[in-house]
Amino acid sequence: MTRLVMVSNRVIDFNAAQQAGGVGVAIYNTLARQSGFWFGWDGQIEDTDSPEPKATTVGGHTTVTEPLTAADYNEYYLGYSNSVLWPVFHNRLDLAQFEAGYYSRYVEVNARFARHLAPLLEPDDVIWVHDYHLVPMAMELRKLGVENPIGFFLHIPVGPAQALLAIPENKEIARALGAYDLIGLQTQSDVRNLIDFLQQSVSGRLLPSGRIRVYETELDIGCFPVGIDSDDFAFGPGEAEALAAADTSDVHRIIGIDRLDYTKGLPQKFKAYGKFLEEFPEYRRRIVLSQFAPPTRESVEAYADIKAELESLAGSINGRFGELDWVPINYIHRTIPRSELRDIYRTSRVGWVTPLMDGMNLVAKEYVASQDPRDPGVLVLSKFAGSAEQLADAVLVNPYDLNDLAQCLKLALDMPLEERRARHEKLVTIVRKYDSKAWGSSYFAALVKAGQRRFGRSPKSSADMGRALERLKGSVKNGTPKDRLGANAGT
Ligand code: G6P
Repeated sequence: MTRLVMVSNRVIDFNAAQQAGGVGVAIYNTLARQSGFWFGWDGQIEDTDSPEPKATTVGGHTTVTEPLTAADYNEYYLGYSNSVLWPVFHNRLDLAQFEAGYYSRYVEVNARFARHLAPLLEPDDVIWVHDYHLVPMAMELRKLGVENPIGFFLHIPVGPAQALLAIPENKEIARALGAYDLIGLQTQSDVRNLIDFLQQSVSGRLLPSGRIRVYETELDIGCFPVGIDSDDFAFGPGEAEALAAADTSDVHRIIGIDRLDYTKGLPQKFKAYGKFLEEFPEYRRRIVLSQFAPPTRESVEAYADIKAELESLAGSINGRFGELDWVPINYIHRTIPRSELRDIYRTSRVGWVTPLMDGMNLVAKEYVASQDPRDPGVLVLSKFAGSAEQLADAVLVNPYDLNDLAQCLKLALDMPLEERRARHEKLVTIVRKYDSKAWGSSYFAALVKAGQRRFGRSPKSSADMGRALERLKGSVKNGTPKDRLGANAGT
């Protein structure tokens, strides 16, 4: 039987409701429709020389996870993944720290994961690797003789080739990408940037078939925008009415939910909000900005800096404009339980999503999916979020331009009902059409095809792969309750 083997750095613990970013939720939703297992880090740091994998099955879902050592955590996770690849792919070369030792540990952890995964694989398995922590994974698996289709999906954006070329090991990264059968990216612009990088770094050649040749291998690169499961945000009979009845406040909430990351444009957002209150005093007391910013990667210096900056901005705006009975910014440095997200989105007049650069941003899609179609709120979305390529009917904003941010906020708050409805209808159609199911099944189908092309033969049981694809497309879920995923902090 064809199994889907998901591999990602962080694996959600199905037992404990813990923080899950967009990546975790997307993997979870896909795996809930397909047999297989999820392999990766359990989130623990252990003082051991030889971390061992451990399999756990909860509600029919199997995860195989292992801890990282303290050195792995510092050099593979905080170091190469989050202080080199993350900033560079987000075009923040100024924040990249090219330290000796990071890269070798990065490859070592990938090689160890591959050694622990390979014996668990069966000939018909399809392997889907996620995100920048695991670029060398396919190459390490191939070295061990694994011939199964192996795909890679990058959830973060691909910055311009010039930025990627600044990585000292850019040729090794390009070669490692070449070991995959299929690379999935979020947007067309990411596809163009990656092809450009492969051409410049390792003289990658675009073939007439549309595939890319990197040294001796050929691979497919495509755009597969990740989606949400919109049913997670739907209201059952009577629920929406009860929520509306309980919501008696006439203060409009503007909602922001972002991990506290320097790519999310939070200082710009806070400054623009201060500017808005300054320029349009008639809105004071009538609005509140609720910004959730759960902590993340706090030991990386750039993350500590942004935390201090944001706290000071929130304090100064609240100090300057606040009243005894009105606080302009509600800044919460914690995660929200996933089960509460839908109601918070629904009772917020504006979804203010303004990253400087973002792979997709699923908060934007979740906000749209939660709105009341009769009286929907307005999504104000950064032009530089991957989701802007699909959600063109949002109010699109330049997150670097404080004036534009303030003006677009005004536009959203003043938008007449008819226009809100018209925009929402178009947005929600897209969000529903390109949902997590469409993402999982289209990527899986493309990966199976790409795997067949690599070896110039059909996989051993293509009928079985066909059945697996039908399961991914189907609506029957065999998952544990969605709330077990805990909080969603966005991508
Ligand atoms: C982003 C990355 C994911 C990662 C998530 C949470 O969305 O693309 O791969 O899982 O952030 O980050 P963390 O460092 O806490 O795993």
